[in-house]
Amino acid sequence: MATTITITGAGGQIGYALLFRIAAGDMLGADEPVRLRLLEIPQGLGAAEGAALELQDGAFPLLEHVEVTDDAATGFEGANIALLVGARPRGPGMERADLLAANAGIFGPQGAAIAARAASDIRVTVVGNPANTNALIAASAAEGVPAERFTALTRLDENRARAQLAQTLGASVSDIRRVPIWGNHSATQFPDTSHATVAGAPVGALLVDRVGDVRRWQEDTFIPRVAKRGAEIIEVRGSSSVASAASATIDHVRDWVQGTDDWTSAGVISHGEYGVPEGLISSFPVRSVAGRWSIVEGLEIDDWARARVDASVAELVEEREAVRALGML
Ligand code: NAD
Ligand code: LMR
Repeated sequence: MATTITITGAGGQIGYALLFRIAAGDMLGADEPVRLRLLEIPQGLGAAEGAALELQDGAFPLLEHVEVTDDAATGFEGANIALLVGARPRGPGMERADLLAANAGIFGPQGAAIAARAASDIRVTVVGNPANTNALIAASAAEGVPAERFTALTRLDENRARAQLAQTLGASVSDIRRVPIWGNHSATQFPDTSHATVAGAPVGALLVDRVGDVRRWQEDTFIPRVAKRGAEIIEVRGSSSVASAASATIDHVRDWVQGTDDWTSAGVISHGEYGVPEGLISSFPVRSVAGRWSIVEGLEIDDWARARVDASVAELVEEREAVRALGML
């Protein structure tokens, strides 16, 4: 049977970059037929309908059906996978948290519609910013759906971190592993190189050889480059990242469904791991085993790293308080 995938904001930029790759089998594999539901607001329906026409013209062998709607109940009916992309993007000079009031109102009703209509194996990935807190809002509104089914995209940050590290080491990005993102998908995130490997070996000596003082390189170069990459893209291209965000979304869902052979990063519900308050959706190093994310436990975190994890988690706590104050939790 085909997998039903609901994409919100399907008429937007990331939606357009996602749809054709999903239809081509990049997300669920070359043997998995898909049914797509494109959920938009009325103003976005034309763009989503146009994309649906193009999907038809793509004659994708795996694409069984496409439906466009502005009704959340119809949009999430029978969904096995939901990609919550629909939200306003930030512009130059804004932080993602500035979108909290503008976008938070979208995710409660969508969480409730998911609880009412989606399939029992629903997996939700929130892309719309601020992604972690929007995922928390959706999960809280989805009564009866385990919070483990709600995740926030931080794979883009990890991909950025691996690419930067690969460039620094003169290595292939596919040889770089174990560079988890901790905390929020925001400028406070902590991309962590302390466990990183290149071609299976710790990066330690090679990294010292390339950058000298590793701590200084992390503080002055690597962490700001990765954590502020979203702003850099906005500055250079005039609008926020699109194709790389869509690609990371595909990586995230593919790994969630098909499993990982090593660590990756995802915003998942905390049960108190590494001192992150229970109930927050925070990015952690994770593995996907048998269709479930599990947090990689037992990693050593020194005081320097601890302070960075704590700062990002403190921001998540602040965002949770802010949406509580708005009555959205
Ligand atoms: P966009 O403006 O091009 O598209 C957003 C679409 O969402 C629009 O078509 C709009 O009509 C639709 N929409 C708005 N409210 C909706 C609702 N309630 N239901 C359904 N659809 C709705 O924006 P974009 O560039 O595609 O970015 C989308 C979001 O993704 C933004 O919030 C952006 O900041 C975020 N983003 C996140 C990451 C990440 O790594 N987590 C990366 C890039 C962008
Ligand atoms: C990104 O990281 O590129 C997105 O979250 C968009 C943004 O606002 O930075």
